[in-house]
This record gives sequence, C-alpha cells and structure tokens, in this order.
Amino acid sequence: MDEPNFPNLNTKTIGKRIVYYKKVTSTNDLAWMEIANGTEDGVVVLAGEQMRGRGRFGRNWVSPTQKGIWLSVVLKPQLPVDKMFSLMAIGALAVADVLKAHKFEAMIRWPNDVVIKGKKIAGIIIETKFVSKAPEAAVLGIGMNVNVGQKELPDDIKDIATSALIENGYEIAIQPLTEELIIRLDYWYQALRDKKDDLINDAWRNYSAVLNKMVSLRSKDCAYQGKAVDLDPCKGIAVEQSDGTIKWWQGDEVELLRPI
Ligand code: BTN
Repeated sequence: MDEPNFPNLNTKTIGKRIVYYKKVTSTNDLAWMEIANGTEDGVVVLAGEQMRGRGRFGRNWVSPTQKGIWLSVVLKPQLPVDKMFSLMAIGALAVADVLKAHKFEAMIRWPNDVVIKGKKIAGIIIETKFVSKAPEAAVLGIGMNVNVGQKELPDDIKDIATSALIENGYEIAIQPLTEELIIRLDYWYQALRDKKDDLINDAWRNYSAVLNKMVSLRSKDCAYQGKAVDLDPCKGIAVEQSDGTIKWWQGDEVELLRPI
C-alpha cells in the first residue's frame, strides 16, 4: 500500500489519526514510540513492510512488502486488568468480520488466530503497559496475509498458514480492506467501552473454531488434551480433562492450541 487515503473513514476513536511508514522494524515498536510521546487513544500505525514483525512468544511474523495488512493500534481504554484480554478478542472479531464480508469462512482459533479451513490467515498480539498495577496503555498488533503467495510463506509455516490470495486465487486491494478493518475495530472497541460484553462474547463464541471440540494444548511446562467446553474473552478457555475436571487457561499461558 502506498501512502494511504481512506475516504470513508468516519470512526469515533480508532483511526482518527493514522501514521503510515513504508518500511519499519515492527509497527508495534512505532506504536510504543507514539505512546511514549503521549499520543491519544486509537492512533493507527500502518506499514507497507516490516523487517522484524513479531508474534506471540517471540515468534517472527513475516510481513512482505505491500502483501498484507500490518498494523498496530494504540489503545488507552482505562479498563481493569482482567478486561484487557478483551482487546485481543475485538482484534480477532474485526478481522473475522472483514473476511466474512468478503465471503471467506473465517473462524477464530483461540486465543488469537483467525483461520480459514484450519489455516492461519491473521494473527493478533496485545502488548500492555502497567503503571502501579493499573493498565495504562496497550498496543494491539494485527497481521493479515492478504496477497501473500504460497512461495512467500516461510517453509516452517507453509502447511499451516494461508492468505486471501491463496484461498481465492486473486488479489484483493489492500487499502480498502484496511479501511474496512479499521471501521470494524472501531465498532468493537466502542462495544467494549460501552460494556456490551454479551455482544462481544456471543460473536466471539460464534466464530470459534475450537468451542465444543477436542483440543490439544501446550503451555510452558505441560501438554494435554481435553474438550474446550467454554470460552470467555477475560477468563480464557475452559478445557475439560478426561477425569471431568475443568481448568481455565489464559491466552498468555498457552503457546499452542489445536483442534484434534
Ligand atoms: C501472532 O499470531 O503471534 C501475532 C502476530 C501479530 C503480527 C502483527 S503484524 C503488525 C504488528 N506488528 C508486529 O510486529 N506484530 C503485529
């Protein structure tokens, strides 16, 4: 995407100001610099290319030039700590809505992957800054593979990742898609601020690729299987083990979760 122009953007908070860079290390880094400079809630940092895009647990996020949406949003929602997890849910909801509007069968694989037929098309990361135990600001990073070709996917994710181009066979213009994404992000962010928790929870559960399915789960020091029996943006995922005990897991504890 060249210097973007979003004619239909009339959002309340997200995207009131948009900063665009052709090439960055990571849009999340630039968003944190914005925060350090005292920027306002809802600023969007966009890039044509990232050299060190980052995912959860220090993983790399490959972001080829003008082939996807690589963006970060500065958020200052003044929410209690437990509600900060909802920010990841609204990111995934916005991505899933945009893909659905383009007729893709998008689902959310808890906690943060948006998948099409089980392959990851987008990832969401939330980074938070606390001041005396109160969340002060967060950066919501979204990476969405739009026109990434099969050959551009690194070998280690070739079989588990996808893009709109790979699924559809044709390219989609990135700029209008980015505008649609910002509009949906703003919609879900307002819902969160208006405490419409049921609206968010229901949509999130409806998109779920894992709810009521058997899953395998890996955390830092254990791996097991069970049935995903409940989901909640704040509490996480409830997994029932074979002995009937139910354990809730938070997104930041689980490195890998797959339906089996
Ligand atoms: C994940 O699935 O682990 C999350 C991936 C998030 C990638 C996006 S791309 C834009 C933003 N900038 C980054 O460095 N990361 C996020």
